Amino acid sequence: MPALTDTFTIAGDVEIPKVGFGTWQIPDGSEAYDAVRVALDAGYRHIDTALAYGNEASVGRAVRDSGIRRDDVFITTKLPAEIKDADGARRAFEQSQRGLDLGVVDLYLIHAPWPWDSIGSDHRAGNVEVWKVFEELWSSGRTRSIGVSNFSVEDLESLGAATDVVPHANQIRWYVGSTQDDVTAWCQQRGVLVEGYSPLATGRLLEGGTIDGIAKRVGRTPAQVAIRYLLEKGVLPLPKSVTPERIRQNADVDFALDADAIAELDAIRD
Ligand code: A2P
Repeated sequence: MPALTDTFTIAGDVEIPKVGFGTWQIPDGSEAYDAVRVALDAGYRHIDTALAYGNEASVGRAVRDSGIRRDDVFITTKLPAEIKDADGARRAFEQSQRGLDLGVVDLYLIHAPWPWDSIGSDHRAGNVEVWKVFEELWSSGRTRSIGVSNFSVEDLESLGAATDVVPHANQIRWYVGSTQDDVTAWCQQRGVLVEGYSPLATGRLLEGGTIDGIAKRVGRTPAQVAIRYLLEKGVLPLPKSVTPERIRQNADVDFALDADAIAELDAIRD
């Protein structure tokens, strides 16, 4: 089945399209609006945003204007990493919901276990407090699934020790050469969907030419090989682009990488 419409299943029965369109670093306004419109026209049915990206309003408007049925588009947004208290989390969710103006959110993520200005700092208690709000949002149907982002095995285990619902997804940085094997295995063994952001290493992967040989062999572009690699590993890629031709190219990943190509890609280290 085509990657754009094929789905993973999370939270029991929620279908999430296997390729998502990432909107990190796409400015609000016409850039985000146009990029999401092009993505939807190209067939993407899964858009990933965050309150911290500042572009939810444009993303929501693009989805509404597309004329595609709301139920046919999967929307992820995220609680800012700095918010680690229950009231703040409730307010931020409402703000995202208002900004998107698309009704029920499909997936709501804790953006990171720590604020970005103190990566690695200990917010175990805050994450538990916030996760309990996520559990409420999920059980009351305001979001169809809940998860985390940038969580390590340790972060996931300490959250799990004090809460009831295992996150449905963990969105982490994931690309050829940087595959986060320990947390990926932990998640996949427990049915937690791994989503990969920056599947092109924010474009860097395409500069070195390491995957050029494989791309030539299989008759694809290096970006397509890089994105396909995630799918071969059961990881959901979230490629980002503001360039229409690339947005379309990154969606055209219905091909298989053979065992030799995968072994070569496995051997690359960032
Ligand atoms: P642009 O948005 O100007 O098209 P990642 O998904 O890993 O975050 O990578 C995003 C970066 O890679 C952006 O700078 C984007 O540029 C670039 N990019 C996205 N798709 C392609 C592609 N198919 N070929 C070359 N560069 C790409």
